[in-house]
Amino acid sequence: MKAWRIGSLGEPKDVMQLEEVADPTPGPGQLVVKVLASPANFPDVLMARGLYQVKPELPFTAGVELCGEVVALGEGVSTGSTSGLQVGDRVIGGAALPYGGFGELALMDAATTFPAPEALTDAEASSLYIGYQTGWFALHRRAHIQPGETLLVHAAAGGVGSAAIQLGKAAGATVIGVVGGPEKAEVAKKLGADVVIDRHEEDFVKVVKEVTGGKGADVIYDPVGGDTYDRSTKCIAFEGRILIIGFAGGRIQEAALNHSLIKNYSIVGLHWGLYNTLAPELVNECHAELTRMADEGSIKPLVSETLALEQVAEGVQRLADGVTVGRVVYEADS
Ligand SMILES: NC(=O)c1ccc[n+]([C@@H]2O[C@H](COP(=O)([O-])OP(=O)(O)OC[C@H]3O[C@@H](n4cnc5c(N)ncnc54)[C@H](OP(=O)(O)O)[C@@H]3O)[C@@H](O)[C@H]2O)c1
Repeated sequence: MKAWRIGSLGEPKDVMQLEEVADPTPGPGQLVVKVLASPANFPDVLMARGLYQVKPELPFTAGVELCGEVVALGEGVSTGSTSGLQVGDRVIGGAALPYGGFGELALMDAATTFPAPEALTDAEASSLYIGYQTGWFALHRRAHIQPGETLLVHAAAGGVGSAAIQLGKAAGATVIGVVGGPEKAEVAKKLGADVVIDRHEEDFVKVVKEVTGGKGADVIYDPVGGDTYDRSTKCIAFEGRILIIGFAGGRIQEAALNHSLIKNYSIVGLHWGLYNTLAPELVNECHAELTRMADEGSIKPLVSETLALEQVAEGVQRLADGVTVGRVVYEADS
């Protein structure tokens, strides 16, 4: 089969190579899927650079989540029409590296494989897993967001940010989105943000204070970090929660704990992947809830473009460069 392989570390466009590789075979508890769609995620960029917490042995195929059709089951994977996985099922979930989603076939662990929601296309379904689960766990389980609270979302037109806007609105929050540029501002508005701030034009701290009558945001969703985090502490509300989601801006900030004490706010970390091993039942419950929301139409992953297999490295590079919106998705039939 054909797959994009990373054999050395660097920028995605420099280190991703489309190669002919052996088909994967499923180990115990695994399955092989024909890839239907697989979005680019920032962790794909960080893994190519060797800067992610997970460092797969080289060479590997990136593509951390996908929608696929089951073609083979490994030992111990239960089968059956009501409970288990069967060949032919349309599924979503995490890829088992080194056989990630940017190839014709991929490996998945049965434990992190879920039925694909019927309401979503392959490209949309492929993007319902990491970004939406992260948003759900962050807003509900970690920040306990309440109806009527104000949610500030950074990188609001991006992958996890677009999911956070939709989930925040569904939770009854007033959502303020911060984006880089007028096109992204349009995207964030269409996604349902009540107020959108272009960070190149306006100081988000000032606008958040104006919009909230000086109170600040109750919950801040921060996938960017660095200066964005530092500035966020200036507009967090009394008893607010700043969610540490990621460091797409490149600098891992340090927290001033005296400031957190003085202003009575919480700094709340989230490593969503850990729930897969430490509390998988919560991930299952979350998938059921996200499927229900997708069916009723209250959430829908934003697929801004689909890529043919040959275009994947270029798409991952644009994500790395911060110029994509929503999800850029490799789709097998595009
Ligand atoms: N904690 C978890 O469990 C978890 C789970 C999934 C993802 N994440 C993290 O969430 C973050 C976002 O992932 P994503 O896939 O959804 O990416 P993304 O948000 O679609 O892309 C990154 C966005 O960050 C902003 N940005 C600001 N400075 C940047 C810079 N120097 N370089 C690149 N982008 C910059 C850009 O938006 P603007 O121009 O609009 O500001 C850009 O579009 C990543 O850090 C990822 O590791 C964490």
